Amino acid sequence: MDDTGIKQSEGSAQAMRADSREVHEARMKEVRENLERTCAELFPEPVTITLEIGCGHGHFLTAYALEHQDETCVGVDLVTKRVQKGRNKKEKRALEKLHFIKAEALGFLEALPEHVRIGRCFVLFPDPWPKKRHWKNRIVQSQLLEMLAARRTPDCQLCLRTDHEGYFEWMVEQVAASTLWAVNDEVEWPFEASSFFQELMDAWQSLIATKPEEDEPQGA
Ligand SMILES: C[S@@+](CC[C@H](N)C(=O)[O-])C[C@H]1O[C@@H](n2cnc3c(N)ncnc32)[C@H](O)[C@@H]1O
Repeated sequence: MDDTGIKQSEGSAQAMRADSREVHEARMKEVRENLERTCAELFPEPVTITLEIGCGHGHFLTAYALEHQDETCVGVDLVTKRVQKGRNKKEKRALEKLHFIKAEALGFLEALPEHVRIGRCFVLFPDPWPKKRHWKNRIVQSQLLEMLAARRTPDCQLCLRTDHEGYFEWMVEQVAASTLWAVNDEVEWPFEASSFFQELMDAWQSLIATKPEEDEPQGA
């Protein structure tokens, strides 16, 4: 191929990349707008929710919602089939204030109307991403902690549980590194029910983080 031929094929490869980037961006915009619409329809009024991030098939949150029927409970998960299983559980038990939404956790927090507050958030057995080069994918990290803190009630409890030792240490470190949350050993785990993954595990560790206590002003 002569120089002109090479330049033409490089040019068409670039055009294809730009096209597929545009298609991807348009798709992302559509997903974001759909999620904003779903959230606006579900939460037209100010409300405090109990959120489960990565709710899987909804075992835990359905059991929680049965015992806390006055609370609005929301489970989010990336996988459509799992969300559908959660919805089936909700329908079967006629739990009107329980909702399962297919969404990425951070995208969901961004799409929530400003008048929605988070009173309690569970993250149970999140994907551990054991290889160091994949740790950046762990859901419990500074961005999530910041976004949750921006939407929480003052007494919000962030309840984390994992069977993975390395991830538990990571969780403790992430909370310790944040000025927005503090590990709170005085709060008891608020509700026990097995999640799908908990059923498969022999052991796990839990921690609850809350808003750090503010220092008493000097001389008070
Ligand atoms: C190991 S499973 C645990 C499921 C459930 N919590 C349990 O204990 O059975 C992790 C779940 O988190 C979901 N997930 C992973 N990353 C997520 C994200 N960024 N946003 C929402 N869900 C996510 C996965 O699809 C999966 O269902």
